[in-house]
Amino acid sequence: MPQRGVGVGNRYEERMSHEKLWGGRFAEHVAPDMATFNDSFPFDRRLYAEDIHGSIVWAQALGAAGLLTPAERDALEAGLMQVHAEFAAGSFVPHPSDEDIHTAVERRLGELVGAAARKLHTGRSRNDQVATDLRLYCRTAAAQLDTHLHHLQAALVQQAAQHTATLMPGYTHLQRAQPITFGHWCLAYVEMLARDRSRLADATHRLNVLPLGAGALAGNSMGVDRASLAAALGFTAISENSLDAVSDRDFVAELLFIAALIGVHLSRMAEDLILYSSSEFGFIELADAYSTGSSLMPQKKNPDSMELLRGKSGRLTGNLMAILMVLKGLPLAYNKDMQEDKEPLFDSLDTLALGLRVAAAAVATLHVNAERMHAALDSAMLATDLADMLVRQGVPFREAHGKVGQLVRRALALGVALPDLPLAEVQAVQPDLDAAQLRSVFDLAQSVAQKNSRGGTAPAQVAIQVARWQAALGG
Ligand code: ARG
Repeated sequence: MPQRGVGVGNRYEERMSHEKLWGGRFAEHVAPDMATFNDSFPFDRRLYAEDIHGSIVWAQALGAAGLLTPAERDALEAGLMQVHAEFAAGSFVPHPSDEDIHTAVERRLGELVGAAARKLHTGRSRNDQVATDLRLYCRTAAAQLDTHLHHLQAALVQQAAQHTATLMPGYTHLQRAQPITFGHWCLAYVEMLARDRSRLADATHRLNVLPLGAGALAGNSMGVDRASLAAALGFTAISENSLDAVSDRDFVAELLFIAALIGVHLSRMAEDLILYSSSEFGFIELADAYSTGSSLMPQKKNPDSMELLRGKSGRLTGNLMAILMVLKGLPLAYNKDMQEDKEPLFDSLDTLALGLRVAAAAVATLHVNAERMHAALDSAMLATDLADMLVRQGVPFREAHGKVGQLVRRALALGVALPDLPLAEVQAVQPDLDAAQLRSVFDLAQSVAQKNSRGGTAPAQVAIQVARWQAALGG
């Protein structure tokens, strides 16, 4: 978080000598701590581009409504572009009286263009202004998030393409269950991320609604044309209720939910990779660039990139809780509580943008140890295949399950692997099974190849999915 409250004393002195944009009604100045408490400029300054874009469009609408002369409108536009340039260049100098991005831009505009600046806020409130800024910001952020998700998907698909037939244990309850391919594992996360992307696209429809023109809460009485405002800002719809328009932050909550769920997906992927990179598993090794060492134990190579992805899902979820708690119980319409929407939003967006970049690069550079994966397979994982074979011989599945269960128990009692169970033991349970049939069941590659249903783990299916994703992701 940016440092707040630095040099409060000085800020206060300067503030005393500077007129507040809303100062007319007030006899006393705001207290120093209150100023620090109230100001959002340290964190909402990042909305400058959206704020200025909205103001330029607003000035045009005021001009069209006859509320500004063409000369005034042009002066405002030029001044606003100058303020934009200052922010973009990092040369904008905040004044202690700048409460938030809206007052900062307007104050600086006044310095640049003089009297015309005092007309910009005609018919507008910071309430519809901030709602507009934030929707514009979220729209861009959602598109950027989508790009990051795309890159992670591409990294996973690239790994999958190399490992369509690399066998490894698949787990349920973290117990070895059935053999799968590593490519199949990769594509499971590609599917999750695809749903996240579709959630973003869906949320973008609801984001794309213009609040500007709702005024403080009741609407606009100046004859401003909201349709042309919407068109100029690229909104596809116009809010139909001014109370709702200024007090709705559903779109922030939605984006934070999507961010939290992406975080959960990343966390699950990270947990798999943390386990797989341990010496006990040894299935994968992360590149040095995405690992760190121990200050005490020279031999250690820790999967910190993955641990942080797992850990940061906590704050992503926390940020979702924060916005829901802020909104709960707010009376209509705008309340200052709503200023608390920004820090969780920005934090989640920043956290994910970096996290997704790290995740994509760590996945792209991880090394797969196919031998270790194969060594972790055991023939007991084919017990279901044995039951399936009995089913093909006409044994009802429940009965087959019971018979194979008995064989597993016998093998455990004799201390041998299931395929090494003496034929006599097998035939005691299922008399018409012969040695050749038994051998044919205990073939790991064969077992995986048989999982050839659509979406199954068979290399042929994984290859189909890889091709589908390569086409969908564009190479
Ligand atoms: N900084 C404020 C926010 O983010 C802007 C809106 C202020 N509106 C008001 N009526 N004080 O919510």
